Amino acid sequence: MNQPVSGFSKKSKAEKIEWLAENYLQNNLRSVQVLKNYWNDDPSLQQLHDDFIENTLSNYYLPFGIAPNFLINEKLYALPMVTEESSVVAAASNAAKFWLERGGFKAEVISTEKNGQIHFNFFGSEKVIEAFFEEIKPKLHSSIQAIEKNMKARGGGLLALSLVDKSHILEGYFHIHATFETLDAMGANFINTCLEQMAHTFEEEARNFEAFQKKVTYPEVVMSILSNYVPECLVRAEVSCNVEELTTKHHEGKHFAEKFVRAIEIAKTETRRAVTHNKGIMNGVDAVVLATGNDFRAVEAGVHAYAARNSYYSSLTHAKIEDDVFTFWIELPLAVGTVGGLTSLHPLTKLAFEILQKPDAKELMQILAVAGLAQNFAAIRSLVTTGIQKGHMKMHLMNILNQLHATEAEKEKAMEHFMKNTISHSAVVDFLGKLRL
Ligand code: MEV
Repeated sequence: MNQPVSGFSKKSKAEKIEWLAENYLQNNLRSVQVLKNYWNDDPSLQQLHDDFIENTLSNYYLPFGIAPNFLINEKLYALPMVTEESSVVAAASNAAKFWLERGGFKAEVISTEKNGQIHFNFFGSEKVIEAFFEEIKPKLHSSIQAIEKNMKARGGGLLALSLVDKSHILEGYFHIHATFETLDAMGANFINTCLEQMAHTFEEEARNFEAFQKKVTYPEVVMSILSNYVPECLVRAEVSCNVEELTTKHHEGKHFAEKFVRAIEIAKTETRRAVTHNKGIMNGVDAVVLATGNDFRAVEAGVHAYAARNSYYSSLTHAKIEDDVFTFWIELPLAVGTVGGLTSLHPLTKLAFEILQKPDAKELMQILAVAGLAQNFAAIRSLVTTGIQKGHMKMHLMNILNQLHATEAEKEKAMEHFMKNTISHSAVVDFLGKLRL
């Protein structure tokens, strides 16, 4: 049986691998070699990756692809995308091309406010805590002067503080809601540092507040942390054209538009569909979020909370037909950065920003919203016409062939065969079996 280990993080990489091999890999040298196969040849580059997290043993590759032809606000982009899902980049590229020929995407940032909370307990009178908060509000703000100096010089910083009484929901629970402008930074570190400093000042000031002393009841900070729910950091992207322009050799425009709108209505009313619908949107958003070194967990959490903002989980996209004009749009809360974090460290992230022509955070928000909208357009278009599997399996065929160790010649024959035949795992196994007879 395996034993717990102590002081693991202090071991060298070689020692960690040795320990892993002994304890979990039956000393299998081939497994150890897999880790080594993915090391970077350049030791300084490898060191950079080693330092991103604790206990790094190797690097985990994901494909870094490009979806060209995205016309956004009259500017042409190629979107860098990192994803493991076979059909995502192809779908994005198809949607981009489709809308390139119909005026492209329009996108606008609606707001850019981030927020965080100092959560605290107070079991005394509401009036007293309100009076205390009003008195110390300027002190809270001035206590972060040094922290926000640079951010302020660039036009950002703390915007406002307010006291929120939640004691009717959870006895004794209040928080201070703080709003921030963090410009081109996602702002997590900045916000958390400000909040922790203000929480410290809050408790310090409370000790000297007479009304608390009299009752011997003081507020106690439970925690201070930014919120990844950012409905005041909002971006909108849209496409629109006459329904006739949606006609292709596969479908008639008006009927397609009607079915498309119906699919969105279904995702608005049925949670089971809405979740998959929004997952498809996030296929596009996350791929660009990852390529640009942003925090996809933060984006995911915030986006899904936004999808449920009206107390039920619903579609993030909307569509309508008015006077024969089809309009399809998305609204997303997105807190992302173009400076700080991994953005200026990871060589591929830096390259992604170069490919995107060095956008600021607002432009990146627009690009991300468009990536989500395009991905959703491609998914719904397939779903209401050919079905999703045709395109998906076409892209997945190569994965199946690789899994079955197909040779180059076998791959070529399989590609030709499955142009005309339905792709499934068993169909590919059968095909290869016959070829190999
Ligand atoms: C697959 O990753 C995403 C889709 O299921 C999205 C959707 O159903 O809208 C195709």
